Amino acid sequence: MTDVLVAALRAIVGDDHCLTDPPLRASYETDWTRRFHGNALAVVRPGSASEVARVLVACADAGVGVVSQGGNTGLVGGSVPRGGEVVLSLLRMNVIGDLDRTAGEVTVGAGATLAAVQAAAQAAGWEVGVDLGARDSATIGGMMATNAGGVNVVRHGPMRARLLGFEAVRVDGAIIRRLPGMPKDNTGYDLGGLLAGSEGTLAVITKVRLRLVPRLRYRTVCVIGFADAASAVAAASELRRGLASVLALELFTDAGLDLIMRHASVAAPFTARTPVYLLVEVAAGEADPTDGLLEALEALAVDDSSVAVAADAAGRHRLWQLRERHTEVMNAEGVPHKLDVSVPAARYAELVERAHAAVTAADSTARTIVYGHVGDGNLHINVLGPAPEDEATDDAVLELVLELGGSVSAEHGIGVAKVGWLVRDRGAETVAAMRAIKAAWDPAGILNPGVLFED
Ligand code: FAD
Ligand code: MLT
Ligand code: ZN
Repeated sequence: MTDVLVAALRAIVGDDHCLTDPPLRASYETDWTRRFHGNALAVVRPGSASEVARVLVACADAGVGVVSQGGNTGLVGGSVPRGGEVVLSLLRMNVIGDLDRTAGEVTVGAGATLAAVQAAAQAAGWEVGVDLGARDSATIGGMMATNAGGVNVVRHGPMRARLLGFEAVRVDGAIIRRLPGMPKDNTGYDLGGLLAGSEGTLAVITKVRLRLVPRLRYRTVCVIGFADAASAVAAASELRRGLASVLALELFTDAGLDLIMRHASVAAPFTARTPVYLLVEVAAGEADPTDGLLEALEALAVDDSSVAVAADAAGRHRLWQLRERHTEVMNAEGVPHKLDVSVPAARYAELVERAHAAVTAADSTARTIVYGHVGDGNLHINVLGPAPEDEATDDAVLELVLELGGSVSAEHGIGVAKVGWLVRDRGAETVAAMRAIKAAWDPAGILNPGVLFED
């Protein structure tokens, strides 16, 4: 039966785009953290929505699961097979077309990388409004499927906020689209909004129409040191309230800075070392926002020896490395358990302070490194030490997050990593409503089995 399916897939996408040899499949079968992996029956790389439709119909007829995959930078195990599925890679469908300079809108293939779309938008005098460290590999389809957040959510919102229109393929091969899509469009259910964050469980996204944001020519970045998380969170909230130019508010700690200096060879922002750091980016289209930032820092009475400010591109890049390269250095230290969570602003500092104790209560030898998007109440708690399949520290952290009134997934999604926690977080009735949608769109459970819902 599987031989028949593979032959059918070869006929649809061509031999060169149906990979069955283990070495060719390998990079599609393990996730970015190396915590999640599984064998694929085949990796198929369609070149059009109609090929996607034929692949889905063939797999559904054979009763074989399909795992959609973009850049494979997802951090919750949802982009790699669990065992025996077909991986559907969207990377060939990467055309950036129909950029409307006047309206500030662009339609892109699901496989286009964020960096490529950012370059196209900037060339036309606009910006995507979403940015994250995986920009060179993460695809617009994968980002929409996870409703990715990133470092500019505090100003522009997550991917769903940028979505104007879409094209997607349902498991029965039906191609649904709303293109170009309009900023105001109240014609029934918002299916694009539903697909945002659906993690490949409802349909395969093949095109996305994005609403761009005006280009912000003037940018300044600063890093400020604080004695504790509470002071950093208070400063972040003061800056968000007082400065309309805030584009990013990011937090990291001295333990993370140590690893960045060791593995990424980036220098500390200033001589003094402090327990917690806040990175602030301000940006504006018409006038340099630096003076406003400096005035705000003065009002906060931050110590001059614990501030670094950069308005030039090289200086800004250097300061951003201190925050952005945390993901990479976690991997250099081991196979991290990545707990991406959010809590109400008033509980954020408490989460930062209590995370390590929660982890060590479950595993006394585990290490905890935290960083995150403080402007959105989003903390990334990385646990190093426990074996990939040992979930004791994951459970301890997520238990604490629920106690603090938070969400077990802020921006990375549920994937397979947190399926056991969806009902705890959202409640049985809400998850039953989600399952009803899943049953209507994918009754046989072909699309990303094992993701989002427990079997
Ligand atoms: P993949 O990893 O390939 O897939 C992710 C999920 O989407 C899977 O469930 C997959 O099945 C599904 N999917 C993929 N493509 C499609 C499609 N076309 N149709 C339907 N389903 C699909 N995330 C953030 O939110 N904020 C960050 O700041 C951030 N920073 C990161 C930094 C680094 C260095 C890394 C490695 C990751 C980071 N991530 C971040 C996580 C990741 O980049 C995002 O989740 C991103 O959206 C994944 O895009 P992708 O193309 O790699 O998707
Ligand atoms: C980040 O903000 O750096 C990303 O979400 C990735 C991570 O959690 O490491
Ligand atoms: Zn993040």
